[in-house]
Amino acid sequence: MSSDQSSSDNFAKAIWQKDVDHFTHPWQMFDSFPQEGSMILEKAEGSYLIDIEGNRYLDAVGGLWCTNIGQGREEMADAIADQVRKLAYASPFVDSTTIPGAQLASTLAELAPGSLNHVLFSCGGSTAIDSAYRLIQYYQNCRGLHDKKHIIARDASYHGSTYIAMSIGGKKADHPPEFDYERDTIHHVSSPNFYRAPQHESEDAFLDFLVNELEQKILEIGADKVAAFFAEPILGAGGVVVPPAGYHKRTHELCKQYDVLYVSDEVVTAFGRLGHWFASQDVFGIQPDIITCAKGLSSGYLPLGATIYSDEMHAVISEQGKDRCFTSGYTYSGHPVCCAAALKNIEIMQRENIFENASNVGDYFGEQLKTLLELPIVGEVRGYRLMQCVEFVTNKDTRENFPDTVDIGKLISDSADAKGLMVRPIGNLNVMSPPLIITKEEVDFVVSTLRSSIVDVMEPLGY
Ligand SMILES: Cc1ncc(COP(=O)(O)O)c(C=O)c1O
Repeated sequence: MSSDQSSSDNFAKAIWQKDVDHFTHPWQMFDSFPQEGSMILEKAEGSYLIDIEGNRYLDAVGGLWCTNIGQGREEMADAIADQVRKLAYASPFVDSTTIPGAQLASTLAELAPGSLNHVLFSCGGSTAIDSAYRLIQYYQNCRGLHDKKHIIARDASYHGSTYIAMSIGGKKADHPPEFDYERDTIHHVSSPNFYRAPQHESEDAFLDFLVNELEQKILEIGADKVAAFFAEPILGAGGVVVPPAGYHKRTHELCKQYDVLYVSDEVVTAFGRLGHWFASQDVFGIQPDIITCAKGLSSGYLPLGATIYSDEMHAVISEQGKDRCFTSGYTYSGHPVCCAAALKNIEIMQRENIFENASNVGDYFGEQLKTLLELPIVGEVRGYRLMQCVEFVTNKDTRENFPDTVDIGKLISDSADAKGLMVRPIGNLNVMSPPLIITKEEVDFVVSTLRSSIVDVMEPLGY
């Protein structure tokens, strides 16, 4: 071994150890982490990640649903560096702004559907949800509807990790009892996952059940007490759940009927993942009162989130609350460097017509992944365009899951890692959301590599 090689091995080991000793990661497992530690990623090019040992992976996870335009773009580095040189920071409070902040707010108002013309900036998806929640309270108080504070969300939904965002989320696995949650004013209805609701004989019957359940929940709490319904257009971390056709329209109609605000959490689905700037109207035909977004807004180059809300809400809060401070926001709301990155990201998406690729290659991705259904442990392949997941079962007829101890999703993703492919394990699932620039050839690599990884894991388990 050369001395260069041995010093780079020592460096890698030292980083590994520092990480284990000091970096408490989101969703870390305290039992296995000290032995297993982290994979150390050092570089990226387009849709590929490269680890500290020089191994290259096709990143079919897109970072964490976020590297939409792909990594390593010089133009992005230049836009960020230019803004740092010009003005790295200025306060956004009260009456001071920056050129990128004002420009991005206006661009988002143009791109967002209907009357969503006002933007609260935040640092990511969780804080976009937190800001939406506080805005809703403020709005209902301005209307004099002081009891209208209850929230309805769905089982298996994920809305982030601040106190309120996690409480709104309905993923049971994300709610260990050691953390506390707001329970009194937050309620959950069923996840619209037809595969996991086999007692309903058709998707239409399931849809009727879901709509009725939501209406009953509103009536049970009291329509005068329900402030808002929070919904991801496609549930992401809860298992890429595409609701039955017509679900969005009918739940939206119910919300309008009972004066309940509709919050579309587009942290994952916006900025091209489903082929459009926003999915709420262009894919699902609804006009929400609030859209939250983050991730693809800056394609992961810098942290940024936005809560985009309607003219109607703005008219109420600016009239009723006009003699008070609107005490919501952060030091980094509309951070000029993050906004400059988002503006360049949006310009690249437009100029390169990236959404056309997301639509065409996304449809191809969905079709090709469905070929995995031939395998005995693949129970379902579901998703839309560049948001997909494969669910593993021990038996296709009973749809029984593997026991947690098998950790099937992780076994398969580990096997894929070794073959140069990253997919995201979530329990019995492998979830994928590649950069929107992925090619058909790369999709072929993802599907064939995932297939061989499943086969490798399946055989020792006796299939
Ligand atoms: C739908 C949805 N909302 C909110 C969030 C939270 O975003 P962040 O992790 O940027 O705070 C996520 C993160 O995955 C998400 O998927």
